[in-house]
Amino acid sequence: MSTDHCRIIQLPKIHDERGNLTFIESSRHIPFEIKRVYYVYDVPGGAERGGHAHKTLHQFLIAVGGSFSVILDDGFRKTEFYLNRGYFGLYVCPGIWREINNFSTGSLCLVLTSDFYDEEDYIRDYDSFLAVCHDTVP
Ligand code: TYD
Repeated sequence: MSTDHCRIIQLPKIHDERGNLTFIESSRHIPFEIKRVYYVYDVPGGAERGGHAHKTLHQFLIAVGGSFSVILDDGFRKTEFYLNRGYFGLYVCPGIWREINNFSTGSLCLVLTSDFYDEEDYIRDYDSFLAVCHDTVP
């Protein structure tokens, strides 16, 4: 898979004098059915998350609060995204290595995923990831 398949998706934003409301409908606003939701919060300054790829999992990341950077890597090219709005999210297709860093204080990273948690779906070793991308797995 290529980072070309990953993209920022703008979500609906309903604004009135009481504030903003954003909603996400499975498959309508993002390109998969949502099966699991998790969120990362209370991230200490300077900490990095991610550092892995998924074999089959689709994900959608949103900075619901604050901001952070996401570096996507398809084994050939790296692309950096900066998320800082609750109505923009980043779709990450399977087979992409991701690093998440530069978390602002109090930020909240919401992640929607296409499947239940399965450690077998992770590639946590970067050299193994590169071997898969470059088709050099023995
Ligand atoms: P991990 O996916 O490595 O976190 P991140 O990508 O944000 O750095 O997960 C961290 C730990 O949490 C790891 O031990 C697996 C566990 N975990 C679950 O048990 N269920 C889940 O849904 C997720 C996302 C992680």
